[in-house]
Formats: sequence, C-alpha cells, structure tokens
Amino acid sequence: MKGVILAGGTGSRLKPFTLFLNKHLLPVGHYPMIYWPIITLRDAGIRDILIVTNKSHLASFIELLGDGEELQVSLQYKVQRNEGGGIADALKSASNFIGKEKFVLILGDNIYFDSIAPYVNAFMEQQQGARVLLKEVKDPTRYGVPELDENNKKILSIIEKPVHPPSTYCVTGMYLYDSNVFSLIDAIHPSKRNELEITDVNNLYIKKNLLEYDIISGWWIDAGTHESLNQASNYFFEKSGEDE
Ligand code: DAU
Repeated sequence: MKGVILAGGTGSRLKPFTLFLNKHLLPVGHYPMIYWPIITLRDAGIRDILIVTNKSHLASFIELLGDGEELQVSLQYKVQRNEGGGIADALKSASNFIGKEKFVLILGDNIYFDSIAPYVNAFMEQQQGARVLLKEVKDPTRYGVPELDENNKKILSIIEKPVHPPSTYCVTGMYLYDSNVFSLIDAIHPSKRNELEITDVNNLYIKKNLLEYDIISGWWIDAGTHESLNQASNYFFEKSGEDE
C-alpha cells in the first residue's frame, strides 16, 4: 500500500514561525514534524510515500529528506497548485501517484504515538470504500466531528468544526481510501472558507454506506497550534527521558 502526506497549507495558527518556514519543518521532539508521519507510515509497512507541499517549500523538504533513504522509505514530491485550497484539493495532486490502489492519507501535522498497523490491516480486509480513525477529545469544535450510531458501528454524518458537536469524538487526520476518492473529490465544491473539505468527501462515502471507522486507543495529537506543538514535543522528551 502507498502513503500520501500533506504538508502544504498556510500554517496560520503557528504564525510567526510559518511566515518563513513550513509548519511541518518545525521541531517536534528531536525531529522536524514531518519525520513523525513518515515514521508512522514506515512502521506500518508503508514505504512508498508522496509528500504534497507548497511550491515555495518544496526545496526545503528535498534538502531535508531527499529520496527518503536515510529514513528507509522511498519519497516522491508533488506541489499543490492551488495553495491553501483545502485538504481534498491537496489530495488531488496524488491521483497519478496512487493510480487504482488503496492508500493511506495522513495530514502532516497529525502525530500518532502508537502503531497504526491494526487499522491498515483492517482496511486491507475491507472490500471497498474508506476508513477513518476517531479519538475522543475535550474540544471537538476544533475538528471534524462524527455523529455516531455506536450500536451499529456506523458514522451517520461528519460536521466540520461544529458549534454544537454531535459527539465527543473527532475524525483524526488519517484516512484510508480506495481510489474512488478522486472521483468523489471531483463531485464536491469549495466550502464557505473556500476550501475543498475532506469532510465533504467522507460524507459522500457515508451516503454510499462505504465509510468504516476505528476508535484509536493510543496517544494522538494535531500539532497545528502553539499549545499542541509544545504538548507533542513534551510528550517525546518525557518518553525519551523514561527510556534513559
Ligand atoms: O487534525 C484533524 C483535523 O484536520 C480533522 O478533524 C478535520 O476534519 C480536518 O479538516 C483537519 O482540520 P484542520 O483545521 O486541522 O486542517 P488544517 O487546515 O490545519 O490542515 C491539516 C493539514 O493538511 C496540514 O498538515 C496542512 C495540510 N494542508 C491543508 C490545507 C488547507 C495542505 O496540505 N493543503 C491545504 O490546502
């Protein structure tokens, strides 16, 4: 299976750092943020990886990561033409790389501290459609939030950054898709904030009754704010302290 990491966007919540540096190159623990999603994919057996980023940041990623040899992965790069056009817009850039295969998409600012292999394996068993990973959070209004029918293990809908969240879960930034995702992206329209929303794509999978989910047990964080970036770093430093 292949992997796609999104590392574009404006990083507006991490200004002023992101005025001169791509968010995914900021330090998290001992490494730049982008290392973590690469390691997460690699440790789940996914070594063929595409990084999508902004034109002006491409050279920095290539300088840091090259072809991926040092991290024991094979990296390719693609530029998101419509910078900041949304997660689904950025994913469009991956369609040639993916072809007709199933794949894993991970947002470059999402850090998973435990193996994702069980979810990847569950997706391999899944005949068709998509799979999302949920986590219970204190502040669901920051995220895409699922309305759940837990008895039937179904997601009824997902609302992006709801004022009145329908559950205490969020959809984390890892999505397992079949290649039909690209035709679903073609069917959606820009949202009020003028982005092609991944939540709209996932709602189309729900309509077709083709969206499965897992609730992840391990620690996970969206490191896209000053507070959460700091929390993520502290977690790694505390963990490496424990190992000494
Ligand atoms: O962290 C999980 C959340 O991520 C989900 O719960 C939400 O449903 C999903 O929309 C997303 O919300 P965010 O507001 O956190 O997304 P953000 O704009 O921070 O972008 C997430 C990543 O995607 C980030 O690493 C940069 C990349 N990205 C984003 C945009 C808008 C791109 O590569 N291109 C883009 O145009």
